[in-house]
Amino acid sequence: MKKLNISKSPVIVLFFVWQAVNCYSQQNDQATIDKNVKAFLDKHSSQWYDMNVPASDGKLLFDLILENNYQYALEIGTSTGHSGIWMAWALSKTGGKLITLEIDETRYKEAVENFKEAGVDHIIDAHLTNAHEMVPQLKGPFDFVFSDADKSWYQRYFLAVDPKLIVNGCYTTHNVSDRPGVRWNSDYLEFLLDLDHYETTVNNQGGGMAISFKKSEK
Ligand SMILES: C[S@@+](CC[C@H](N)C(=O)[O-])C[C@H]1O[C@@H](n2cnc3c(N)ncnc32)[C@H](O)[C@@H]1O
Repeated sequence: MKKLNISKSPVIVLFFVWQAVNCYSQQNDQATIDKNVKAFLDKHSSQWYDMNVPASDGKLLFDLILENNYQYALEIGTSTGHSGIWMAWALSKTGGKLITLEIDETRYKEAVENFKEAGVDHIIDAHLTNAHEMVPQLKGPFDFVFSDADKSWYQRYFLAVDPKLIVNGCYTTHNVSDRPGVRWNSDYLEFLLDLDHYETTVNNQGGGMAISFKKSEK
């Protein structure tokens, strides 16, 4: 039988060259995103005035996405985009996308500009919308959610998204505390802790983050 001489087969050689070029350009793309996001976050670190999360909570969202390889993310409450940029940065590494919702036109426009400047706009689908109406209409599925809009609606957002969140997915909610004497959204936290199909803990390092992992369908 005639042996295939790999080094002399132009198609195979071209295939390996193409793969090497592809791999190099992907690494290069990621290095560019890392550089742009870091530069953007450094430049704007003291300029988040629109109820944005502190950087420690941005990093917490980043780590949760990366550690669990999440790819289908939803944010309720974009504001000017600080948390969205941290999440999109992590999603750039997992190959994921973020849908984010904001009702205020000025903040939405500023967020869109920020996403462009940070170099993550291709990862984010930003909507100027009322989340009360849009969240129930979203198809999903999602594996990561960050809820940070109007607190009086937290439970309704959760109930609308729960059927669209996959098992092992994670639902995070901002401004929730379980520190003694600090009653931020305590009724909502009790609601989360009572759910048998979720495991909820609270991270109190920044603005208070409830982290609810979905263990099973209801
Ligand atoms: C706490 S801020 C979000 C901060 C943002 N996650 C960040 O860290 O950069 C809450 C945002 O939710 C928006 N919001 C409030 N009610 C909303 C609604 N019904 N639909 C969409 N956005 C809403 C507000 O306009 C505000 O910009």
